Amino acid sequence: MAALRTLAFLALIAFVSSSETSDCSYSDLLNHLDLTTSNNLLAVMRPVKNWTTPTLVKMDMVLYGILGVDEKSQTVTSHIWIQMRWTNEFLTWNSSDFCGINVLTIPRSWLWIPDVDIQEDASDTGSIVKSPFVSLSADGTVLSNARQRLTSTCQLNLNLFPFDSQNCTITFTSMNSDVATIVLGTLRSDTILTEISELIMVTKGEWQLEQMEIITFSLPGETWQSKVTYIVTISRKPLLYVINFIVPLLYFLVLDLASFFINEARGEKLSFKVTVLLSISVLLLILKDMLPSTEDKLPMIATYCAVIFALVGLSVLEAMLVSFLIDLDGYCGMKSQRSVKAQVDIQLQVDSHTDPAGAEETPEKNNIPLDLPKGPNLLKQILEEVKAARQEAEGQDKDKRKPGRYLRVAKIIDSVFFTFYFVAVVVFVTYMNVVWILQIE
Ligand SMILES: *[C@@H]1O[C@H](CO)[C@@H](O)[C@H](O)[C@H]1NC(C)=O
Repeated sequence: MAALRTLAFLALIAFVSSSETSDCSYSDLLNHLDLTTSNNLLAVMRPVKNWTTPTLVKMDMVLYGILGVDEKSQTVTSHIWIQMRWTNEFLTWNSSDFCGINVLTIPRSWLWIPDVDIQEDASDTGSIVKSPFVSLSADGTVLSNARQRLTSTCQLNLNLFPFDSQNCTITFTSMNSDVATIVLGTLRSDTILTEISELIMVTKGEWQLEQMEIITFSLPGETWQSKVTYIVTISRKPLLYVINFIVPLLYFLVLDLASFFINEARGEKLSFKVTVLLSISVLLLILKDMLPSTEDKLPMIATYCAVIFALVGLSVLEAMLVSFLIDLDGYCGMKSQRSVKAQVDIQLQVDSHTDPAGAEETPEKNNIPLDLPKGPNLLKQILEEVKAARQEAEGQDKDKRKPGRYLRVAKIIDSVFFTFYFVAVVVFVTYMNVVWILQIE
């Protein structure tokens, strides 16, 4: 009797526990799918019933942020979200048999996952974060999510820097499976993905997402591996560079142009020009930090800087030449003045040498000052003195003109150079404007 009671009790427990398992938890479903423990076969086998059927992996990539563009190493760092969807033909159920359960999450490691990777990826693997679970739908669709801080290589074209826009490709492909095994496709269209990316993007830095374009290569025979390529077009926001770089350079050029009106005499002009040149070379140093030296063709901004530097350098040289000529002029002036003095001294000496003869006569004249025959003699003497005075004055005139010659040359050089310089600056600025604006559009 006791044994019978125990048996009944056990039967009751069995009934209760069986009724517990048939309530609406996931366990029945997991039992049905044989997923109570990790099933090795499901993890290694591509989930198709006929091996000739390729697995279609549909994917989406959304750009969460553009973290930076490194012009020197030609890489773009971005934050992306990747969603992949494919069908597991073995894991299907009828949701009405299991209390309407239609989505199940199971550990990622229990299932076969397509080995889709990014070709341009140059980041360390630690930056990939994959969800430990994948979700499984009643029709066998597996959904896997991952996010990644992606550093991708990208051929940057810096010719128009800082008005440039870059096309960077992000190519997804299976590392080991050919196009007959895994076919990659897309879930949503590129316009929708661009809109989503623009909506959710938080960090953009100095970049603006223009558009994302998707190209798929998945025809057998056309390629060995199936590929999905996202062409991401981003454009730089140039305002900071314009304010910080292009406008100051232009301003320095204008300052240098204006410095032609500074008075030459005090030597301030030269030192001002050298200061302008130094300021430009500081900006050149900053430019060197921004742009890679690997460019075959010089970016236009480098040409812009180099030409401005050369123009200002040339004008410093010219200012040196002019100041040298003025100094030379002053030196010659002093020398010729000295020679004039010497001439005057000699004349005076000659006068005093000739004087004694006259002096012998003059006492007699002085004695008889109103003698008529002495009249022409006196006139002669006055004439000679006037002549001497005139000669002296003419000599001084000549000597004055002689030192002025260098000054005149300096002035001519200065005005010719200024004209040339002004024309060069106007032509250069117009040319840069036209070319830059034409290329941007
Ligand atoms: C597998 O698929 C191939 C091609 O679709 C077909 O020819 C073959 O009959 C299939 N095999 C089975 C067992 O269904």
